[in-house]
Amino acid sequence: MFLKKNRYNILILGNGGRENAFAWSISQSTRCAALFVAPGNAGTAQYAHNINISISNFEEIARFCLDNGVDLVLPGSEQPLVEGITNYFATHKELERISIIGPDQLGARLEGSKDFSKAIMRKYNIPTAEARSFSAIEIELANNYINTQSLPIVIKADGLAAGKGVIIAQTHQEAQQAIENMLLGNQFGESGHTVLIEQFLTGIELSYFVLTDGTNYVSLPEAKDYKRIGEGDTGLNTGGMGAISPVPFADQEFKHKIHTQIVEPLLAGLHQEGINYKGFLFIGIMNCGGEPFVIEFNVRMGDPETQAVLPLLDTDLVTLFEQTVTQGLETRILPVKKEVACTIVLAAEGYPGEPKKGDDIHLSDEIGQSLVFHAGTIKQNGVLKTNGGRVMAVTSLAANLPDAVAQSLHAANAITWDGKYFRSDIGKDLLSL
Ligand code: AMP
Ligand code: GLY
Repeated sequence: MFLKKNRYNILILGNGGRENAFAWSISQSTRCAALFVAPGNAGTAQYAHNINISISNFEEIARFCLDNGVDLVLPGSEQPLVEGITNYFATHKELERISIIGPDQLGARLEGSKDFSKAIMRKYNIPTAEARSFSAIEIELANNYINTQSLPIVIKADGLAAGKGVIIAQTHQEAQQAIENMLLGNQFGESGHTVLIEQFLTGIELSYFVLTDGTNYVSLPEAKDYKRIGEGDTGLNTGGMGAISPVPFADQEFKHKIHTQIVEPLLAGLHQEGINYKGFLFIGIMNCGGEPFVIEFNVRMGDPETQAVLPLLDTDLVTLFEQTVTQGLETRILPVKKEVACTIVLAAEGYPGEPKKGDDIHLSDEIGQSLVFHAGTIKQNGVLKTNGGRVMAVTSLAANLPDAVAQSLHAANAITWDGKYFRSDIGKDLLSL
């Protein structure tokens, strides 16, 4: 049984910009006693103790938690959740006082298996694109099915594929090639042994976030993510190159539809399926002419959306976590600052392919009030160096979108290293809405 306390020791799992934003926010809470990040980065080291443990090594994580009196563990990414960290902690007697902010392994399948997530949506009447799934022995059937479908058509690997398992095919041949690569060519390994062939939805996409205790839920500000590497949404898919929050195309009526048509039926459904879901839920939604359709569920917060959303919150995160694990949340929209956040990701040369690493990073005073969240950074002999694809993100809050964008562009230019790249069009598409 989790014990309520005034202050908690907290461990964040991960080393990205999202985890840096969580560390920044949690470290400001008067209800956080000690904060640890495993493995963390040079940014998280400013607010927390970095510890050198892999996010998949549950035994070592558990040992660390026991040795250091950790009360709450927050996995940043889906990986430990899909691998079952929540069940691991729940089934070891000595760990029963430690709570994980995240669903159990079955709940994590909402993200870990697109086939499972589709089946749940179908069963509980949650609006989503029509889809059918096929395994390798059904490739003939899949090819015939593709020929009956209109274009473009979406092909998805069932399992986790690091954001690369979705192909939007413009021709039937392209679609058939994609399923052949996944089902027969083993392109995504086990993840692609089942594929979904899905109807293409036309609209504007947003990321919606709730934190639930399994019954009640709080809504965070929504965001728009910029997934492609190139300006004007061109080029390869990335983890996300920037984010704006809130967005002008999600009004109260639209959000009400998200709550009543998606979040509430899903939570009721998860309960009925016997799934223990206490944690963040990230819903990728297409706004199709004012109607919300689910594109995907993720069982964690978004990166870089978290870097835009958390600075807007006017709530103590640790108290929310306590309410999450003790089933004390009150369903509501969380209070937020009346500002707009613009996050711009700064990437290393080569990203989203193999990034160049080890370049010296220079930060100047021109960054001003903007927040800097590290991702792929490392400090070596006191020198800050690049150490990954997405290196950092800058977030600016301002009274309006143009000012937030201008400040973040200024801050992005005030950080330099050899080969630095960022998109200078983040938020620009929303200025005319
Ligand atoms: P996912 O990995 O499911 O987030 O898909 C990656 C991206 O592909 C999404 O963010 C969308 O931009 C796009 N996408 C996925 N499914 C669809 C769909 N049914 N219709 C249109 N675009 C989609
Ligand atoms: N920014 C999208 C994601 O975190 O999946």
